[in-house]
Amino acid sequence: MVVLGINGGHNVSAALIKDGAVVACASEERFTRKKNDEGYPRESIEFVLNKAAVSPEQCDVVVYGGLWQDPIQTKIKRVARFTIKDYIREMHEYWKPVLLENKSSLFWENLQNEPRFSDPSGMHYNFDFLKDTPKEKWNEAFQKEQRSVLFRHIGVPSDKVFFVDHHKAHAYYAYFASPIDRSKKTAVVTADSWGDDCNATISVAQGNIIREVHRTTMCHIARIYKWMTLILAFKPHEHEYKVMGLAPYAKEYIKKPAYQIFKETLVVDGLDFKWKNKPPDMYFYFKEKFEKEAIRFDGIAGGLQQWAEELTAEWITNILKELGVDRLVFSGGLSMNVKINKVLADLPGVKDFFVPPSGGDESVCMGAAFIVAQKKDNIRPLIYAYLGSSPGNDEVEEALKEYDAFKKFTVVRNPSPDAIAELLVNGSVIARCAGDMEFGARALGNRSILCDPSKWENVRKINEKIKFRDFWMPFTPTILSERAKEYLVNPKNLKAPFMTVAFDTTELARRHLAAAVHPYDFTIRPQVLEEEINPEYYSIIKAFERKTGIGGMLNTSLNLHGMPIVRTASDALYTFVNSGLDGLLLPGVLILKKL
Ligand SMILES: [Fe+2]
Repeated sequence: MVVLGINGGHNVSAALIKDGAVVACASEERFTRKKNDEGYPRESIEFVLNKAAVSPEQCDVVVYGGLWQDPIQTKIKRVARFTIKDYIREMHEYWKPVLLENKSSLFWENLQNEPRFSDPSGMHYNFDFLKDTPKEKWNEAFQKEQRSVLFRHIGVPSDKVFFVDHHKAHAYYAYFASPIDRSKKTAVVTADSWGDDCNATISVAQGNIIREVHRTTMCHIARIYKWMTLILAFKPHEHEYKVMGLAPYAKEYIKKPAYQIFKETLVVDGLDFKWKNKPPDMYFYFKEKFEKEAIRFDGIAGGLQQWAEELTAEWITNILKELGVDRLVFSGGLSMNVKINKVLADLPGVKDFFVPPSGGDESVCMGAAFIVAQKKDNIRPLIYAYLGSSPGNDEVEEALKEYDAFKKFTVVRNPSPDAIAELLVNGSVIARCAGDMEFGARALGNRSILCDPSKWENVRKINEKIKFRDFWMPFTPTILSERAKEYLVNPKNLKAPFMTVAFDTTELARRHLAAAVHPYDFTIRPQVLEEEINPEYYSIIKAFERKTGIGGMLNTSLNLHGMPIVRTASDALYTFVNSGLDGLLLPGVLILKKL
């Protein structure tokens, strides 16, 4: 069976499932170069069909991972286009009147007329229906348009297009993408900020059956985290990881007052949550409290993270007890918090735990497709995330010409892993853009910046000269699978191929991987790499290990600050030219800056 899955929300994406295997998956932002892009994922759809060598007529079903979508927010591309200032304006012009003053607001509707939000390029939907459709019929009309655009674009008839529940898609992704033992009962938990009138579900799965046992609108952990991100003047939907990275720096006495404020709000209630005191809104309420208590930025981050970890742990403990299971898979936006995942992995009631890659909404294209495909096929777990496009030889040669590389740089053909490792040992920072691009937020070696993880000076070099990154954010390593035991504290022997779970580290890791360990709590969210998953990337780290004894590599995504991760050879060369990278590896070519 061939199923095309689509995430039409934010960070729109497409996936192609053929005979139970994910053949291709990519997010539109990589093609349009607009972070978290929205609208119809036209280029991703063309790409996944091409990669799978499937014609649109061969698709049995096309499925969207959501039953409800606000056409106005899609039309203005709210998440992709909003700046931090826009979100603050939204608080004052939408949420404040609606939640605190009992008034209505046409804030989003009015934004359609502002030039920054009215550019229709890259949208592909026709929103004319908004003119004569009453608001209560918008979703129905938008679904009709979503069917129409598929017909206009690839000729798929409307009766092949379906919409499935957002959290059901998260749950199917959590379970079927995970390599968890399906012969045993597993708890499947989803949690996010909001999707299809719900923010968390609990299911129990065994074999090919997932049975939902509870869903709620009260799991506000991700939602509160999102608005605290804004209070700290970071971008909601995107910079939550910066708050998480900042949290370990907060001293106990600095974070305690913020923690106490969170503790007075949402609490666990069995399999659900309830308000101890219900805040009238989730921005002004907390902001005023923090100001009154003069709570510092790091205290907010630290108190929030501690509260979110404790609350999630208590909830999951109750779930495992109630379901009588010791295996857990987790997805949805909250599963992007690798430190929460660490706490869940450490729970005494958890025997096996897995978080598949990038559990935010970009993954619901796969989850939605799994819902349909599992009725006919046995879904194979994701053993790697290399589901995107690959730079071919012609593309590489054209990019070299485009950037005049033969004149401006040293171009080495077919460099050996040994030669690359030698440069890394000597302190070079080298990017790698080769092989199939990773799906999701993490670069796993094919669109990565690499350097010696034992050298602290590399942190400053990458932050200041290459990625223009925030100083407090930790880096993380790829670790050779045979060395993982020496570096990770992992008594349950959990699998960690996707950088989705943080671990404590050993003394040796803190020496060998010093620049890739969080400097304050000494945790890492590693990619543990097995040779057969990515032999070329593995061979570089192995060569580095032969020279240094270090069985890992600092690995951070290949992009400039605020830009999507690179996709093509040309994107990679652009980044190379516009940053302090010393070298760039493309398929069969190493480009080095001349001294
Ligand atoms: Fe979601």
